[in-house]
Parts: sequence; C-alpha cells; structure tokens
Amino acid sequence: MEEETAKSAHVLLLPYPLLGHINPLLQFADRLASHGFRATIVAPIRSRGDFRKADPSALASVNLEFFSDGHDNGFPLDLSLKAQDSNFSRVGSRAVGDLIDRLTLEGARPVCLIYNSFLPWALDVAHHHGILGVTFLTQPCAVCTIYIRYIRGFPVLPKEPDGCVAIPGLPLLGLRDLPSFITQTEGDPYHLELLSGQFKNIDQADYVLVNSFDSLEAEVRREMAEPWSPKLIGPALPSVYIGSRNPRASKTSDEQGKPTDCLHWLDDRSAGSVVYVSFGSLAALSPEQMEEVAGALRWCKWPFLWVVRLPFANQKGGNALPQGFIEATSEQGLVVPWCPQLDVLVHRAVGCFVTHCGWNSTLEGLTQGVPMIAIPQWSDQPTNSKLVSDVWKLGVRAEADETEVVRRGELERCIREVMEGERGAELRRNAERWRDLAREAVADGGSSDNNIKEFVAKMSSSMQDGPGPDLNSIQA
Ligand code: UDX
Repeated sequence: MEEETAKSAHVLLLPYPLLGHINPLLQFADRLASHGFRATIVAPIRSRGDFRKADPSALASVNLEFFSDGHDNGFPLDLSLKAQDSNFSRVGSRAVGDLIDRLTLEGARPVCLIYNSFLPWALDVAHHHGILGVTFLTQPCAVCTIYIRYIRGFPVLPKEPDGCVAIPGLPLLGLRDLPSFITQTEGDPYHLELLSGQFKNIDQADYVLVNSFDSLEAEVRREMAEPWSPKLIGPALPSVYIGSRNPRASKTSDEQGKPTDCLHWLDDRSAGSVVYVSFGSLAALSPEQMEEVAGALRWCKWPFLWVVRLPFANQKGGNALPQGFIEATSEQGLVVPWCPQLDVLVHRAVGCFVTHCGWNSTLEGLTQGVPMIAIPQWSDQPTNSKLVSDVWKLGVRAEADETEVVRRGELERCIREVMEGERGAELRRNAERWRDLAREAVADGGSSDNNIKEFVAKMSSSMQDGPGPDLNSIQA
C-alpha cells in the first residue's frame, strides 16, 4: 500500500469555469482519485456557485484551489466574452503557474495539467513549468471533427443553403445540423475563435482526452485519424449512475443543497409517464418560445417536470413563464428553478427528456436510457441533436419554424411520438441499447476504462522518470 501511495501521481485540473464544463472534468478527477491519484482542481473564485451545484461525492474526493481573477462576483455586464476570457488567460496563467511552483515546494509537484480544451494557453503553462499538458475535450468527436476541418480550410458548409455537406464518419449535414458558431456568422465572432482555438496547439499536447466513448462514435473516431490520437474516456458521469449502485443513495445536489421536492413529486407519478424538460445551465428561452413550450405541455395529457432556470443578469426577459401558467397546471406539472438532473433521469417515472442537447445532458439522457426530444439552442447542440435523432435514433428533433421558434403543435406531436405507440417503444429500445453500451464502456475492461487505465499508467510512469518528463515519448 505504501509503495502504491509513493507511486501515485498528483494531477492538476483546470476546467473552463462553467457548469457544463466543470462537471465532466470533476468526474474525471474523481475517477483518477479512485485510481489512487491525488487530484486538485484549480478554478477562479467566481465559479464557486457552479461548484456548489456539482456532484458532492466527487467534490469530496478532490482538492479545490480557487484564485481570484479580479472578478470574484462575476464580470460586469458590458464586458465581452472575449475580454473575460483574455482576462482569465492572463490571470489564470500566472495563478496556475504559481500553484505548480507552490505545490512543487510543498513536495506535491503535479505530474500533469489536465485542462479544458477551451483554454489552449494552459498547455504553455504546463510546459513552461516542466509538466505534461493534457487537453480534455468536452464535446463529442463529431463536433470536434467539424471544427478541425474548418480550421484546416476543408468545406464544412453546404454549397446551397438547403443542401448538405459530406463529412467523413458523419451523416450528411444540413445547415441546421452544424455547430451554430460556424453557420450563424452574425453572432459574436469570438465564439468561433474560442471553439476552433481548441485545436490550434493540440498537436503539442502530451495527451488528448475526449468525454465520449468508442462505440458511440466509432465511425467518426476512425475517420479522425489524427496524429494526436484522442482517447475517449467517457461518459464522465458519477459512477453510481452508470454502474449498479443505488443512485438515490448519493444524489447530486439541487442548487441550494436542500432535499429536492421534485424527486418526491416524481415518486407519486406512474412509470414512464413524466415529460422532463430542461435546457441546461446557460440557455434562456425567448418569451415566445416559452409560450410555445408552455402551450405544448398544457395541451399534452402527460405530467411534466420543467426546469425554468432564473436567467443571468445579461439574459433579461429570458425564461419568463406565461402569466398564470403555474397555477393553471399545478395538478398536471411541476416547475422548478433547478433539479438534480441525473436523479430525475434515472427515476422510473420519467418517460422522455425534452432537452437542448448540451453534451452533458445528451450523455446523461443516453446513459439512463431515456428517449429525447431535441430543441437545440446553439453551439454544438444542433449537431448533437442530429446524432440523437438520425445516428443513435434514440430521440426526435422538434422542428423550428422560419422564425427559429418550435411551435406548440410540433412539440406536442414530438411528445406523442416519443411517449406513445410503436415508434415510442422503438426509441426507448434504442435508448436502452445505448445505455448498456455506455455502461460497458466504463465497466472494468471496457474501452473507456482501458483508456483511463492506460492514462493512469503513463502518468505514473512519467512521474517515476523524474522531474523532466520526456514529453515526446508519452503519447502512444
Ligand atoms: C454547455 C453548452 O451549452 C453545451 O452545449 C456544451 O456541450 C457543454 O457546455 P449547458 O448548456 O449547461 O452546457 O448544457 P449541458 O452540457 O447539458 O450541461 C448542463 C449540466 O447541468 C448537466 O450536467 C446537467 O445535469 C446539469 N443540470 C442542468 C442540473 O444538474 N440540473 C438542472 O436543473 C439543469
């Protein structure tokens, strides 16, 4: 045991400071801790609120080091994302570098820095301090491959607006299936810079990890054939939700860490009867879209649980429920500002998941075998939706009209399709098949488990090689 402890490495992890990016890196840190590694997550103080919403059992197994980036209470409303990120890279580089120095002095030198791929500057920090730099991609290979082709100048857009583009390993993609930052050039151009920036120095990274799993993305993974050989280690989710242990024994927290009423509410609903609706931790729906979702839920006969998140200060008017909706539907449904999503998805009462198809939500729905109705909002979500409906066939996409709004009739049609009849049963069977494959991937000897073990072995051996790791020999 002593020898094992002596051999175990210390790893530093740097998430992009948003919940949808903190969650997978935290889970990976927890997984490394279960292999005997010491794992420390470094993050700005302003992200503390997001950590409070994260899985408490994973948090218990890692160390947290917060630093001030000068905006501990959040950024001023008029500061652009580009300015926020550039501040983060400037202050973060120094803070992470200082932390590596301090840990080294304390005899706890990290062997590597595992950083969210949105923060490519972290690779320079790692190498400057003589440790390995490991990039962690939080979006699927399908989406990564589109950005990689984009930065290499290959065509990623259809020639005609209503045509399709052929990308090896993927189904034909129309404009509506591509990452929104590539197709909607009228938005903030920094988003595309940020997302494509993940790949600008990736061939210098010592290891590339992706939160996905081999059987889910077999074809596109084969086509990627990158020299930097990505290793798929996902789904990075709490093991209680992808193994056999009882999830309710260790549930994820609600926003305030209070016992969650929505789980008791679900307990009183019959199996497979509830439509669960959530658009993740960032999106704010327009009043018109809220009216339409509300209308569809009211029309359909199913009970519903709808997460309506309080909008951020810069999302004024977003996520506003129609007047009187809660009172009018109190017998049918429950509206909450936040919920322990995995506990909801695993609940027997949930029959389908109306989702924006953020990558975490997609993996969470898939690993719980819950069929989905996709209403993508932006970023990778249109592509994830395409995979859900056309490749994995475990859900349907609700079509938006020419004003980009999904109308109530369309959503209600989708809910009926997924909740009823032979088509619904087929989607559920497919969802359950993917659930089993996801569990296989992370189970002992599965593809993700093997990739994690290989990573653990390489980190351990590079630590034993002494202070200056051989950066060229580490990547298989
Ligand atoms: C963002 C991007 O929007 C997404 O497209 C990208 O793939 C990851 O980063 P977000 O929009 O928040 O994330 O969506 P998602 O990836 O689904 O992550 C949301 C997380 O919040 C999930 O882990 C989900 O379980 C959690 N959540 C959400 C809750 O725990 N409770 C809720 O009520 C809502």
